[in-house]
Amino acid sequence: MRLELSSYGKGDIRDPFIVVRNADGSFSSDFLFEKAEKCAPKPPEGMPGAYDGADEAERLAVTLKDKASGLTLELYYDVYADCDVICRSSRIVNGGDKPVTVLRLMSTQLDFSKDEWAMTVFHGAWAREMEKQTLPVGYAKLVNSSFTGTSSSRSNPFVMLHEPDATETAGACYGINLIYSGNHYSSAQLNSFGKLRFVSGINPEQFAWTLLPGETLDSPQAVMVFSRKGFGGMSRNMHRFVRRHIVRGPWRDRERPILINSWEACYFDVNESRLLRLAKEAKKAGAELFVLDDGWFGERSDDFSSLGDWYVNTKKFPNGLSGLSRKLKELGLDFGIWMEPEMVNTDSRLYREHPDWTMDIPGREHSEGRNQRILDLANAEVTDYLAETVSGVLEEAGAAYVKWDMNRIFSDVFSRSLPAERQGETAHRYVLGLYRLMEALTRKFPDVLFEGCSSGGNRFDLGILCYCPQIWASDNTDAVCRARIQEGYSYAYPMSTVSAHISASPNHQTLRRTAPETRFDVAAFGVLGLEYNLCDLPADAKKELAAQLELYRRWRGVLQYGDFYRLQSGNVHKWICVSPDRRRAVGLVLRELAEPNTQYEDFKAAGLEPGLIYRFYSLPHKVELMKFGDLVNTVSPVHIKQDSQAHYLVARFVKLAGETEECRVSGAVLMNAGIRLSPAYGGTGFNEHTRVSSDFSSRLYFMEAED
Ligand code: GLA
Repeated sequence: MRLELSSYGKGDIRDPFIVVRNADGSFSSDFLFEKAEKCAPKPPEGMPGAYDGADEAERLAVTLKDKASGLTLELYYDVYADCDVICRSSRIVNGGDKPVTVLRLMSTQLDFSKDEWAMTVFHGAWAREMEKQTLPVGYAKLVNSSFTGTSSSRSNPFVMLHEPDATETAGACYGINLIYSGNHYSSAQLNSFGKLRFVSGINPEQFAWTLLPGETLDSPQAVMVFSRKGFGGMSRNMHRFVRRHIVRGPWRDRERPILINSWEACYFDVNESRLLRLAKEAKKAGAELFVLDDGWFGERSDDFSSLGDWYVNTKKFPNGLSGLSRKLKELGLDFGIWMEPEMVNTDSRLYREHPDWTMDIPGREHSEGRNQRILDLANAEVTDYLAETVSGVLEEAGAAYVKWDMNRIFSDVFSRSLPAERQGETAHRYVLGLYRLMEALTRKFPDVLFEGCSSGGNRFDLGILCYCPQIWASDNTDAVCRARIQEGYSYAYPMSTVSAHISASPNHQTLRRTAPETRFDVAAFGVLGLEYNLCDLPADAKKELAAQLELYRRWRGVLQYGDFYRLQSGNVHKWICVSPDRRRAVGLVLRELAEPNTQYEDFKAAGLEPGLIYRFYSLPHKVELMKFGDLVNTVSPVHIKQDSQAHYLVARFVKLAGETEECRVSGAVLMNAGIRLSPAYGGTGFNEHTRVSSDFSSRLYFMEAED
């Protein structure tokens, strides 16, 4: 049978929804229908839930009862008709007179009849987030889970269940995500009769929650979308839902500022005068917010000390944070600050004062991660202290923005605030503590823009997005890697949540050289920022950057809040973002590696209005002479030795004009026939109509409807 809810012990031997150890030590439950009623959705206790600003969503609450134990299970189905989304969650109530232990409480269960299914998951690691893998669902169980303490870059909690031959534009596709930031678990398996069972929720591994008589425990919410229009249709539904019902507060619909972050420009070597030099250049280029990253507090000069000591280092900042903030304001920049509130180094005042606030096991050597320990957020004393400390920093700094980082995975999970028999609650209680802390701070500072971060994308999930409208997507700022990573995120998360920075070339993570155009184009498909030393840029590069940022300001409404389509993936990435009224759109074509004799390329748009006439254009751009190596001699009247001083000198002054696209065309033609772009360089000659599409090159195409 396909079941709406499955418990253990009554003959259903598939992955269950709920497992409880009863007071007598047995594991069986038999939850039977009692009643169903309609009511208003509410977030789960202690956790963020989908936000229903317009009071339009409806909840169906189904109550089931296990007679023998007195336990009640409530299943919630919240319908967001505006986005075609159902959010599911559950609550267990101990109505009996003895304590029980909840070993598993899922958020959703989906039983499908016999069909062929595939599951797509997004796995990765530090700097390699959101790599997509599709696996057929079969008789061996497929599990997408995290056990790192966070939602993790190893396995993002978002999964897709779909027809094996689904494409971007066709085929049935379910997208399922959890509004949760800790250990998660989703499994899919066929039973002996070919029927699919899917469950998703908190990871039951080492989870054991004692429920006393009268107590309740809630699961996080699972967000479920469906589309028959393939991955693309599913993604756009999910994006709309995240923009409207996950992100909240004054920043929900507000265009996000262009920030400059000090990390890849200075690393730990920050001080007031150095930052002000950087800030002046950033302001000239068009930045709006200056973010002071790691290195400003305690005795911090590397990652061995001072986490926890959130007071300014006055040797580096003699005028304090308020002095720096004032000077930035005079320059016309808002001030933002990096913090990692959940952490402590043993070499810190905080640790010396409160060694019992860390998550480690008394009597055992602790396994450190990035030389630091996690504070025990399961302990309310710790979260209260942190709320006060972070508030103090924000007030002193007059901060408009916070980058909230979290840079290690859990080890030696243990809370001194819990008795031995409740240690199986620690990991979940940590997440509840984190939410309590974030809730308090975002309420107190509603206008501050919080950006999530966890060594990049180690905690990129819907729970964090309820507090942080955007998340630093990866510590990998290489434009080519970023194109893949951001494409991975785009399956589940809208561009307004994905923060993306232009950084130095060669890139600090890959040492790859990419053109300024490529770095800008990829960062523009997200919340664009800057993260490199602008002071050392030559004058023409500064001018080019200023023009790019000006362009971004004009188009960021479309790029951050438009409908996103993946038109092509692989060696060539083609994307388009279309404004909600379909009158403006930006397209991207990014080539990873060049191939000879592939001159002809189309740009086939999506999401436009067929009957409207659009101006389709690209911006004029210059081709670097150095790109052609010794081919320069095919046109030069005198011989130029490749890579010589003379070669560089000529290249500084001679810029070759590249192709520019410009035409008037209907939306129908743009979407069905596509635009045949100027022929690419194919090894047989170059003129001003040639599209030089070498390794890592990219172009943006703009579409504007005519009246
Ligand atoms: C993490 C973040 C980076 C940077 C460093 C600072 O790695 O992801 O962006 O803030 O910490 O230590």
